[in-house]
Amino acid sequence: MKQKHGGNIESVAKKYNLHSDNIIDFSANINFVGPPPDVYSRLKDNLESITKYPEVNSGKLKKKLSEKYGFKKENYIVGNGAVELIYILVKALNPKRSLIYAPTFSEYEKALKTVNSEIEYHYLKKEYQFDLQIEKLKAELTDNIDLFFLCNPNNPTGKFISKKEVKQILKHNEKHNIFTVIDEAFVDFVERNISAKSLLKEYDKLFILRSLTKFFAIPGLRLGFGIGTPSLIEKMNGFKDPWNVNVLAQKAGEIILKQDEYIKLTKKAIYNEKLFLYKELKKFENIEVYYPNANYIFIDLKGTDFTSTEVYENLAKEGILIRNCSNYKGLDQNYIRIAVKSRKDNNKLLEHLKSLFIINN
Ligand SMILES: Cc1ncc(COP(=O)(O)O)c(C=O)c1O
Repeated sequence: MKQKHGGNIESVAKKYNLHSDNIIDFSANINFVGPPPDVYSRLKDNLESITKYPEVNSGKLKKKLSEKYGFKKENYIVGNGAVELIYILVKALNPKRSLIYAPTFSEYEKALKTVNSEIEYHYLKKEYQFDLQIEKLKAELTDNIDLFFLCNPNNPTGKFISKKEVKQILKHNEKHNIFTVIDEAFVDFVERNISAKSLLKEYDKLFILRSLTKFFAIPGLRLGFGIGTPSLIEKMNGFKDPWNVNVLAQKAGEIILKQDEYIKLTKKAIYNEKLFLYKELKKFENIEVYYPNANYIFIDLKGTDFTSTEVYENLAKEGILIRNCSNYKGLDQNYIRIAVKSRKDNNKLLEHLKSLFIINN
């Protein structure tokens, strides 16, 4: 089966006869700083909790989320990763027709197919540098559409729209009775505050989705949450397993929400590294590098002699895993995405890219 996501270390290790420990993974957009150190020590101290069932519906964690981000506990739902909530949400809303843009995160489409929703695509165009054209989008958000997914910042392009622009879309969607989901999985990495959370007070047909696996580097534990109206949350609860979030993930959630100092320090570390990598990549004359608003860099290879699959394979052989973006709807063999990592890893990637693009030219 064609892999739809990054992070497939084991299959790459097998294919290229490498040891998985020697692979540097630039394909999954995980905070390179790693989880807050407290997570390791506190989870170790709580290992015996695996002999008990987790709290149904993650009540304690919801209370902590409400203390940190505002809103009532009843406005929250916690998921086994943000992705689980996408599937639960589409079941709860059961949209007849939906609109997503392309390219974007592929799980919206997959989830919508599970409820047989008809899907329309709004193509983000290279001629606009993949920036969302709000007026063009609005023209496609008609009365026929029941549900719209907005990924902000977008994966894989890293492009975002401002809160003011989000508001324009919400206002339009309210008029046309369209439910909007805003996936803010990478919002914590963006330098500006673009979260539409506060707009939940004005708009009912809105669900904000957050992942805790990217910024807090716990993709293996799985943890995400969503905020919506209590009636929507109640409906969503009816479509999920009561123990969907395991005890260790619930505990990790309580720990990471308190890590203000870690958040500040890692934001700075990621900002420094992304600027370094961005500037170094910009020195290659034959590729086009998009500014990394989040913690990943989107690259157009058009000026090179390589397809994205060739670049992917050349690097994979050397134990460097990048995201070949050719299987994103709306993209072709010209695009790759790389996560921002530590200086040592970034330098290794740059070295290999240099030998590929410069020596082979
Ligand atoms: C835009 C977007 N939303 C959600 C997710 C899922 O995150 P989680 O690990 O919390 O399920 C991803 C993962 O790649 C993503 O890129």
